[in-house]
Amino acid sequence: MAKIKAFIFDLDGVITDSAEYHYHAWKNLASELGINIDREFNEKLKGISRMDSLERILVHGNQQDRYSEKEKEQLAAKKNDEYVTLIEQISEKDILPGIATLIDELKSHGYQLAIASASKNAPAILSYLGIKEKFDAIVDPSTIAKGKPDPAIFLEAAKLLKVEPDACVGIEDAEAGIESINKAGMFSVGVGSEEAMKEAHYYVTSTAELSLEQILKEVEKANV
Ligand code: BG6
Ligand code: MG
Repeated sequence: MAKIKAFIFDLDGVITDSAEYHYHAWKNLASELGINIDREFNEKLKGISRMDSLERILVHGNQQDRYSEKEKEQLAAKKNDEYVTLIEQISEKDILPGIATLIDELKSHGYQLAIASASKNAPAILSYLGIKEKFDAIVDPSTIAKGKPDPAIFLEAAKLLKVEPDACVGIEDAEAGIESINKAGMFSVGVGSEEAMKEAHYYVTSTAELSLEQILKEVEKANV
């Protein structure tokens, strides 16, 4: 790999625990539709766009042909309404352990920072957290034709930062996100269980364990 120049972060589940709010809102909507989803199933929703998540839930409940496109839009909007209300309570104290320190350390060393989140709510969450200005670029997911696991969103982040993909580290908590980073030709850092993060070049089980020094050592070691 080239010398690392940029770090590209996923948001939900990496910077703040909004992944939990997504789960809560989807679980409520699914249950209204008579579909039960659990945490294991939820792993497959992480990193996936709003409409694709709904599709997966409907397939899971064997209801894939039950609703028109318009009804699906309404169902997704209902989930989002609950989610938007839930995230209003987010503040600076909800930045996951170790993340604020890592961001400041990265900035003091001159690395470029970007957000590659599938969420249309990402800018609002970053504002609630009070860290929006720390990022040099935030990819607008509505401009990306194919979501994660396609590499497009991470490649777009690198492009906005004017950095080559092999000089980027991507940090993710979703299986689809790790695949996206790997396909983009970047070094992938996973946050999560060994099982969920098995494709990551390096993984930790909690954001508290993320350290710039260790990540750079792993990049050296991996020689990808
Ligand atoms: C991703 C989450 O970051 O954003 C997914 O991991 C979510 O769970 C997706 O579905 C889309 O988010 P939003 O806020 O646009 O519905
Ligand atoms: Mg995530």
